[in-house]
Amino acid sequence: MARLLVTGGAGFIGSNFVHHALDHTDHHITVLDKLTYAGNTASLDGLPESRFRFVRGDIADAALVDSLFAESDAVVHYAAESHNDNSLDDPRPFLDTNIIGTYTLLEAARRHGTRLHHISTDEVYGDLELDDPARFTESTPYNPSSPYSSTKAGSDLLVRAWVRSFGVAATISNCSNNYGPYQHVEKFIPRQITNVLRGIRPKLYGAGENVRDWIHADDHSAAVLTILEKGVIGETYLIGADGEENNKAVVELILTLMGQPADAYDHVTDRTGHDLRYAIDSTKLRTELGWTPIYQDFPAGLAATIEWYRENEAWWAPAKDATEAFYASKGQ
Ligand code: NAD
Ligand code: DAU
Repeated sequence: MARLLVTGGAGFIGSNFVHHALDHTDHHITVLDKLTYAGNTASLDGLPESRFRFVRGDIADAALVDSLFAESDAVVHYAAESHNDNSLDDPRPFLDTNIIGTYTLLEAARRHGTRLHHISTDEVYGDLELDDPARFTESTPYNPSSPYSSTKAGSDLLVRAWVRSFGVAATISNCSNNYGPYQHVEKFIPRQITNVLRGIRPKLYGAGENVRDWIHADDHSAAVLTILEKGVIGETYLIGADGEENNKAVVELILTLMGQPADAYDHVTDRTGHDLRYAIDSTKLRTELGWTPIYQDFPAGLAATIEWYRENEAWWAPAKDATEAFYASKGQ
């Protein structure tokens, strides 16, 4: 049994990890989360009180972080500003949380000698051409495009520097696009599902040729537990499940699974600087640590996700109108 501190545990992937870790281990978990617009304590409802605690606070609050590190064996760091579109609108919170917040955690890890796993993204590598057979590996050079991805790249580099300069016991993982329950309606898949549920036509940026490499959040959680248990300090692991799909195909699949004509969507203004394609080669994680994804059937995973949003309108409805108003103001 270990005492885990999970930052950003009220967000999409963090909450999925908390559920997964409590189900599959005997760890005790404390979540530290600021509850920004993206955090939702309802995502943590029903967890066992004897093994779970929630603390509201900012990862950039050094005194609070210090007290929580003092009582933790390991830290899994999910907290971030995570949405590219928001980073184009107002980059500042991305610097505060993704850079200064991560720095604050690293300093606490250094003081307390605490094991830290840093959650990052494949977007640090930039994008690939559609017809390029290459995929990202751990040795692909960093080349981030957006304010979001550049602050994530910056945070990764801070982690690497704190490992080398101060001997901090950290690992990093860079994962591809996640889908599953508890994802905010600002993101692509939940936005389109909840649009259809509300009778709004799905919105595709530009021509919809951009490719994302989809992985179920539960597979991501299992990979993170594997790295916590078996990962080599100082190493980076890419997490992906061979799930490349273009956005147009995903919208058409959502519409079909929801009983609508496959072409019942609108093309809207494209994202500025929109990355074309992401693709992950996760050979290192699979061969060195023995992880394998379970959700290999994307249409089945998507159908289950659609069902979750159908059954959990009370979870997503409070954020829907404001999210659509933000997009409408940008012609999206
Ligand atoms: P999210 O936006 O759903 O959740 C982020 C959480 O962090 C929220 O609960 C929010 O309240 C909290 N938070 C934000 N600022 C904070 C602060 N200063 N202090 C404490 N808590 C704060 O994000 P997500 O999609 O779950 O992403 C989680 C992590 O995984 C991020 O680091 C992201 O870069 C990474 N990631 C995401 C994806 C994806 O597809 N969503 C893929 C790869 C990596
Ligand atoms: O690759 C990992 C990254 O995946 C994570 O680091 C980010 O935190 C996460 O948000 C995600 O980034 P993307 O920008 O790829 O995700 P998003 O859901 O915003 O968009 C997915 C694709 O869908 C992208 O090509 C833009 C497009 N899109 C998005 C929205 C919201 C649309 O076509 N229409 C939309 O309405």
